[in-house]
Amino acid sequence: MAHDHHHHDTHGPAHEHGPAHEHGHGHTHDHADIDWAEMAPHLEAQAELYTPLYRQALAWLAREVTEPGLVVDVGSGPGVVSCLFAETFPGARVVAADGAGPLLERARARAGRLGFADRFGTLAGDLPGALSELDYPADLMWASQSLHHLPDQRGALAALGGHLAPGGTLAILEGGLPARFLPRDIGIGRPGLQARIRAAEEDAFAEMRADLPDSVAETEDWPAMLTAAGLKHTGTRSFLLDLPAPLSDAARAYVVTSLSRLRERIGDGLDADDLATLDRLLDPADEAGVHRRRDVFVLVAHTVYTAVRPA
Ligand SMILES: C[S@@+](CC[C@H](N)C(=O)[O-])C[C@H]1O[C@@H](n2cnc3c(N)ncnc32)[C@H](O)[C@@H]1O
Repeated sequence: MAHDHHHHDTHGPAHEHGPAHEHGHGHTHDHADIDWAEMAPHLEAQAELYTPLYRQALAWLAREVTEPGLVVDVGSGPGVVSCLFAETFPGARVVAADGAGPLLERARARAGRLGFADRFGTLAGDLPGALSELDYPADLMWASQSLHHLPDQRGALAALGGHLAPGGTLAILEGGLPARFLPRDIGIGRPGLQARIRAAEEDAFAEMRADLPDSVAETEDWPAMLTAAGLKHTGTRSFLLDLPAPLSDAARAYVVTSLSRLRERIGDGLDADDLATLDRLLDPADEAGVHRRRDVFVLVAHTVYTAVRPA
């Protein structure tokens, strides 16, 4: 029952200084080649910008899940959404679980700033194994864009399900529609640049998954995977972030950072013309660049799948 969890001290030392803490530097072998700690400012700014989308998703969840005692954010990153859970469910304890200690530091700082420190804890360690340090089963688990970084996604779902209370809900955010920032024809280069960037990103994603140690190939049918993990799929819904032009400074900065990161990650997958166009887009002095042009927008959809552990 939810009220059984109210005295659960998720902020205890075991969660922050346990044996798993050594995984918390973000660039260990567990995380392939991604340096999560280095991404902290971007992840935090992104989650802050996406807050209207998360609020819609949480409002939808709150219709299904009432008064959870323990909410666990699996692969929380800097804890922006973990804190939205604390706000949405004022009676809940919230645990942010992640492999990157510096991101969890940000999560704790945010929870402190927002006044949730007394019912907010962090759990540092490799997922999903680190969840065995939870003292109680969760009434609600949220995993946003973290499962696809784990080698065995189906196995991870089963493990998450094992840490749910009977009747508890697992909500995963995966897939949807990729973020779009620019019209098809931007007046420079060959039209359709963003679609070609996306194609290169899909290849990089496949490579990222294949390079994870002990990676298991999986058809990305989330309802089927949830069912295979012994859970009952209860809902699927997509939520839109629609920030039309002209963008706020924060949104524009997010677009600049996103495109710069893409340039670094998948630049090799573009032809010379597209690369030249992308470089113009990223040049702060270029009138046609994303720092200055007026037509830049952010449009993205994320899909949330919910499932319940049978009572
Ligand atoms: C793309 S970020 C998502 C962050 C946040 N949930 C969000 O939606 O903004 C993926 C997160 O998963 C964490 N992560 C990836 N692989 C992990 C692993 N094997 N164990 C623990 N955490 C992991 C990373 O540290 C990172 O914070």
